[in-house]
Amino acid sequence: MNERLNAITSRVMEHLHDVIAEFKVTEDELRSALDFLTAVGKSEEYPLLSDVLLVSVAVDNVTHWAEQDGNSTASNVEGPLYRDEAPILIAPVNICSVEGAEDDILFVSGQVVSSEDGSPLANAVLDVWQANGEGDYENEDPNQPDYNLRGRMLTDENGRYEFRSVVPAAYEIGKGGPVGEFLKTIGRHAWRPAHIHFKLAQEGFNSVTTMLFIEDDPYIDDDAIGAVKSSLILQLEKCADPDEMAKRGVERPFYTAEYDFKLRPETTGEARSKENSTDFVASK
Ligand code: BEZ
Ligand code: FE
Repeated sequence: MNERLNAITSRVMEHLHDVIAEFKVTEDELRSALDFLTAVGKSEEYPLLSDVLLVSVAVDNVTHWAEQDGNSTASNVEGPLYRDEAPILIAPVNICSVEGAEDDILFVSGQVVSSEDGSPLANAVLDVWQANGEGDYENEDPNQPDYNLRGRMLTDENGRYEFRSVVPAAYEIGKGGPVGEFLKTIGRHAWRPAHIHFKLAQEGFNSVTTMLFIEDDPYIDDDAIGAVKSSLILQLEKCADPDEMAKRGVERPFYTAEYDFKLRPETTGEARSKENSTDFVASK
């Protein structure tokens, strides 16, 4: 018997019964809820439902508790739009294969360091993916080339990375599916503030999946999946200096953003057993 699953089920049932009693939930409402859950399953939208109920972020936070110490780069959810095997790119890296005339060019750069002593991590892998200037990911948009705005790169000998991209726009989740309809019904919007996803890996350090948010996005304080963390906000600076433009090989003003990632030395031994222990959840 799975005691942990038994304990979690009992607590979920207790909370459900409290809600039923508080709102005097009707049989019609129960039937609608069950029909909705059936539709979510048929549309394979359970991961999305978990996201909009803010469950995915909560689970990520307790799973990657070591990355929430304020010293290392905070973890965040992967989301459903990650693709394995993104192209491996070498400097000068450009992850955007079709730049629209309206797109704002963006150069993101920084360093990957150890959160313990700040030492630079050479040859760390950054796996990056993002939506375009219209808020569309390439795998949901027939107008973008395969793997557009995705790429893997290595940090240099000083732990530095840089890539060229475009400023992403906010992304609307669940368009046309049962979860999107549900959000509309309860008066919630389905927008995620513009962001860039990263997976970082380096031997001897905890790998981190996270995302950086574009400051001043209209949804920065109201993400549909509740994933924004203040330490993960990217500040953009506009550059219109003709010399800088020439140096960068661009013909219009562009944006730059700097962000340093801090990886935590691998969680081992006692700390890892704490990570996996049922006591950790039970004690919360
Ligand atoms: C995203 O980050 O792209 C995303 C996250 C959750 C649901 C849908 C999309
Ligand atoms: Fe995303």
